[in-house]
Order: sequence, then structure tokens, then C-alpha cells
Amino acid sequence: MKRYELPPLPYAYNALEPYIIEEIMRLHHQRHHQAYVNGANAALEKIEKHLKGEAQIDVRAVMRDFSFNYGGHIMHTIFWPNMAPPGKGGGKPGGVAADLIDKTFGSFEKFKDLFSAAAKTVEGVGWAVLAYDPLTEELRIYQVEKHNLLITSGAVPVLVIDVWEHAYYLQYKNDRGSYVDNWWNVVNWDDVERRVRAAQNHGRSSLGL
Ligand SMILES: [Fe+2]
Repeated sequence: MKRYELPPLPYAYNALEPYIIEEIMRLHHQRHHQAYVNGANAALEKIEKHLKGEAQIDVRAVMRDFSFNYGGHIMHTIFWPNMAPPGKGGGKPGGVAADLIDKTFGSFEKFKDLFSAAAKTVEGVGWAVLAYDPLTEELRIYQVEKHNLLITSGAVPVLVIDVWEHAYYLQYKNDRGSYVDNWWNVVNWDDVERRVRAAQNHGRSSLGL
């Protein structure tokens, strides 16, 4: 089975300042995301040994462990390029993404309000996600608890925000709301547009895997 690797950030660790400080980005990428990559690979190794008859495993526990870590790896792999330095990031979407947002939510402002509310109200730790559903050809917003619960089957994430405390606590303390409000200044709408277009054709390629 394929092993996962930590993808490089598409910008410098300090590139999202002042909205997300370098210390957060460095720890988040090098420690937290790396831990999910390692965890997913460790679970795969256990499954491989089980398949070869070399080890007895608690299948339920290993599957759960894999789901958590793989989910973390995938979500962070989308999260990094979903952002861009202020100036390049921020503003409003264009293209197909803008059309679909208007069609689904009524306007960009209404979408922004709903997505922000979803991010601010995730219980405990998790994510808010904008996803393209190839079955209905619509966008939808949903929350993810931890990395892997509440996911809408088949929908392809195109914009995600990490609301685990490791994503903001060193800068914003417990003020998740200010982090979410400032995060809009670094949203990379070009990347969102690319993901929407890819999801319309091939769900898998939009993950960049
Ligand atoms: Fe994270």
C-alpha cells in the first residue's frame, strides 16, 4: 500500500501574517500534520502485517485509528493551498465557484455568514467545509467533528477551515470567532475555483492526490 507524505507548504511559514502567525503555521504543519501522516502510515503497516498473516490486530481499533489520521492528513492537505498570502488571498471568488455560491446560498455575503457560523459553532474540535456534491451538482456546507465524523458521503471538499485550537490558540487564545473572521483575508479563491472545476469532472483529482 502507498505511504503518505507531508506535502510542503505552498508559501513561507510567515506568509499568512498578520492573520496567522509564523509560530502557528510552523507547529501546525511540521508537528500536527506530520503526526497525522505518521499515524495513517502506522495504521497501514498494521493492516499490511495482518493481511500477510504476520500479526493479529484489533481491526476495529486500527480502522478507527486510520480514519482519524487519514482524515487529518486529507483535511490539512486541502487546508494549506486553500490559503494564500494577504493580497493574493482574500476578496471574493469568481468563475464557477462564484456562480455556484450565488445559486446555492443567494449571495456571497450569505454564504460567508453561514460558513463563518458553521466554523464558529463546531463542537469541540473540527472543521467547517464547503463541498461540491457531484451527485446533486450543488455546493453544501457541513461541519466535521475531529477529522472524520459527520462527513457528507460523496461530497468533495473545496474550501476548509481548521478550527482545532492548534490552528489559532497561540495567537487568538480562545477567541475562535476573531480567527474565523480574519481567516477570510487569506482564502485562496483561485485554489477553490480549481477544486470546484476538478470536482465537477473528477472528484479524486480535486484532492491533489
Ligand atoms: Fe490542524
